[in-house]
Amino acid sequence: QTLQMELQQIMKGNFSAFMQKEIFEQPESVFNTMRGRVNFETNTVLLGGLKDHLKEIRRCRRLIVIGCGTSYHAAVATRQVLEELTELPVMVELASDFLDRNTPVFRDDVCFFISQSGETADTLLALRYCKDRGALTVGVTNTVGSSISRETDCGVHINAGPEIGVASTKVGGAKAYTSQFISLVMFGLMMSEDRISLQNRRQEIIRGLRSLPELIKEVLSLDEKIHDLALELYTQRSLLVMGRGYNYATCLEGALKIKEITYMHSEGILAGELKHGPLALIDKQMPVIMVIMKDPCFAKCQNALQQVTARQGRPIILCSKDDTESSKFAYKTIELPHTVDCLQGILSVIPLQLLSFHLAVLRGYDVDFPRNLAKSVTVE
Ligand code: G6P
Repeated sequence: QTLQMELQQIMKGNFSAFMQKEIFEQPESVFNTMRGRVNFETNTVLLGGLKDHLKEIRRCRRLIVIGCGTSYHAAVATRQVLEELTELPVMVELASDFLDRNTPVFRDDVCFFISQSGETADTLLALRYCKDRGALTVGVTNTVGSSISRETDCGVHINAGPEIGVASTKVGGAKAYTSQFISLVMFGLMMSEDRISLQNRRQEIIRGLRSLPELIKEVLSLDEKIHDLALELYTQRSLLVMGRGYNYATCLEGALKIKEITYMHSEGILAGELKHGPLALIDKQMPVIMVIMKDPCFAKCQNALQQVTARQGRPIILCSKDDTESSKFAYKTIELPHTVDCLQGILSVIPLQLLSFHLAVLRGYDVDFPRNLAKSVTVE
């Protein structure tokens, strides 16, 4: 046992938990996911594991992206950019509900299965369901030789490096999430290589990918400020996280991390739905985080911000640097570097990863072994 403990201590380096180490590894893990696949000079993207199926994939009429937990959130995060770059309908599905519904699936569907472990039973069962109906199946996993990577017709390895922390980073992948996100964006870029009308947008996104590792480092330097925020919040019972558009997934993923490792109630809320119910929860006691980025939803997010402050809400706002319009209404402001709108979710999730880590530590929990949860759920 002591040898095992010593080994784990060495592996953690100067971090107190694997999850914390994996959050801080993301400049490297994101770079490794892109290495050898994105050519920043020629603005081309090649995913080796798909090239033999590209023609068949190009003939498809619909994409269905299926996963559980954090992996499902990576699908939600990239739905809009995949719709834009592939010009195809994109469905994102929680594997268990997809199977409950007996969803119609056709031969000209391309079904993606997102799974860090590649062993999640719900996702594996959804894969077999789609294969039985003749759809082309694509695995996006982080584990070579896993069931999902073996049983799919083709796939992409996210190359995020081994994940030890259960909050996927195991109970909700820190680096799994960001590498899955990048892998799906790379797929969209590869699919749109020959669309003249999308070249400018593709170049903008590829330039954004190139600067991500540095921008992630910049966000990680907010760790102390996030720790101070955690000191104010860790005794709370509940924490709402609100956003929309490219950052709706950020709120879902942030809320999941908080639930999984701090055991606080937390909920990701679509800001556009605020007036259809969640607003009833807002008062000066209810902690609420609002993700408001300079993107096409900015004005609509200002509207949500006004609704929250009109009810004495005291929002903690994650916004773009120098966004004085939002920060003047904030109880607390966390300013993030600006990147391309469809990649902003890579940066905006990191403060929520750090916050969930610090909240858990302040509440005295072991982030690497969260209660009631498993590293990979291999039962239905
Ligand atoms: C478990 C983990 C979650 C993870 C989900 C999917 O519930 O605790 O953190 O997101 O399974 O795991 P996968 O390996 O399929 O990405």
